[in-house]
Amino acid sequence: MYERVGGHETFVKIADTFYQKIESEPLLLAMYPKRDMEGAKERLRLFLEQYWGGPTTYSDTRGHPRLRMRHAGFEIATPQKDAWLRCIHSAIIDLEIDEELKEELWAYFQFAAHSMINKADD
Ligand code: HEM
Repeated sequence: MYERVGGHETFVKIADTFYQKIESEPLLLAMYPKRDMEGAKERLRLFLEQYWGGPTTYSDTRGHPRLRMRHAGFEIATPQKDAWLRCIHSAIIDLEIDEELKEELWAYFQFAAHSMINKADD
């Protein structure tokens, strides 16, 4: 999948667009580290590259992903999940790849984002 979607360049684009989009999502801006947005962007990119079959730099440098655990310090309910998905959706629709590949990425992100919820809605 890593190669089919266009390799490293595609994941750079996804991470870049995602981090541009969170600038207009107050719920997300409140959570992300303002002084380390470049670092955060790189962590997301490296994780996704590894997940989709690319280099394993993420685990080589950060260890086992344990994403639910790494998100435990952030309160993620439906509004945060929806905001996150809006950002990643924009990043995917902008890609110049086959529709079915976009569908595959989108299906994964919906599932993954849902599984990151750790707080009941108010
Ligand atoms: C559901 C809504 C989500 C919210 C609100 C959220 C929020 C955050 C925040 C605030 C960070 C800290 C940024 C940093 O310093 O790295 C983070 C890290 C991260 N998130 Fe999410 N996230 C969500 C879903 C996801 C999903 C679905 C994935 C993967 C498909 C993901 C992957 C990551 C990764 C890889 C990191 C860096 C972990 C590390 O190595 O420390 N996130 N997330």
